[in-house]
Amino acid sequence: MKETTLQSTPPLGADCNSQQPSFIRRRSFLQGLGVSGAMLLPTTLLADHDSHRRKKLPRGDVAVLRFLAAAELIESDLWQQYNELGGVKGGNAAYMAAIENLDEDMPQYIADNTDDELSHAAFLNAYLESRGEQPVNLDAFRTLPSSMATGAKQIGRLTNLQNLNVDTSWYTRYRSEENPDFGATFPQAVHIVGEPAIPLNDADTPPDMMQPLVPVTSQQRRMQAIANTAAFHFAFIEQGGSSLYTIMSLKVTSLEVLRIVVSIGGTEVNHFAVWHDKAGNAVNVTDPETGVVFPDLNSPPLGGEQFQTNLIFPEPCDFLKGEKLPPCSVIRPTLDKNGGAVATIKAFTEDGLFMGQSGAFFEAAMELAVAADAARRERGDDD
Ligand SMILES: [Fe+2]
Ligand SMILES: [Fe+2]
Repeated sequence: MKETTLQSTPPLGADCNSQQPSFIRRRSFLQGLGVSGAMLLPTTLLADHDSHRRKKLPRGDVAVLRFLAAAELIESDLWQQYNELGGVKGGNAAYMAAIENLDEDMPQYIADNTDDELSHAAFLNAYLESRGEQPVNLDAFRTLPSSMATGAKQIGRLTNLQNLNVDTSWYTRYRSEENPDFGATFPQAVHIVGEPAIPLNDADTPPDMMQPLVPVTSQQRRMQAIANTAAFHFAFIEQGGSSLYTIMSLKVTSLEVLRIVVSIGGTEVNHFAVWHDKAGNAVNVTDPETGVVFPDLNSPPLGGEQFQTNLIFPEPCDFLKGEKLPPCSVIRPTLDKNGGAVATIKAFTEDGLFMGQSGAFFEAAMELAVAADAARRERGDDD
């Protein structure tokens, strides 16, 4: 295992609402009482805790948890970049205004999604440690540059949001009666190639400009296209998490680990559903610099079952093989090759999310991903 994926707990990162995430607040509360946390726990819980310390988790469960911790650190990194610029306490007024053109609640949702990812990463690593396993730390790979736009902190990043190729086929996939696990492919809703999802600098998109619903100037159109890209990217990331967690749940043995995987996975689905709805509100605009077009998804030649923006609930689709089984409204894909750990890293790479990352980063990420995909549910004590 690479030294860079081991050791200490991850940084908890910036707070998103000018208040600490709740998991930190609760810990501080216990410390503030001047007694150890253990003194407050009933003995039954202590016994349970001790037994966890003794009993080792199955290797497959550890591999799944470690990959998910890495994925959550990656998610946290990208969401923090969005949050600094466009969250409810965001520092770039024009970007926030462009995002609010899709829905005025978007900055709040960005802040809360960021908090959720930070909590996922911190919890998974803390759980690994509580079971005597190594947490995942990707700090050595926080080397990518920040945006130079007003509002962005000048710190090293794991992910790159400045030149994305956003796969928007999730949009048509969830409107289709077909399933990628049976080989179906789906068209892009919007062709987003080489487009930033955050403002790059203040010359390109001044942070103090007005951002009307119908952009007038070239810079306003540019900023709106960037905000639109963010909305589609939010849903791309979270639909990936929805499939990934479903797939990983099938690999774990411990019922407690299964509880963790399905419980966090549910929030990924929740995130996806909201962002799916918001992406449909993308403003009809063309980026004057990249030529990326955000079309009216409700009007010909688009519209209809494949593109209509309010069709956000998953269409029943092919699910399990079997002549008598009807279509079912489900998360898809749920096969390793289409949405497992390796497929997730590949999709993020094709997205441009890791553009500029080192070979060592890809090696470390792939090592964790291959191990997670190789995990197989065993017959455990819980059975
Ligand atoms: Fe997450
Ligand atoms: Fe997520």
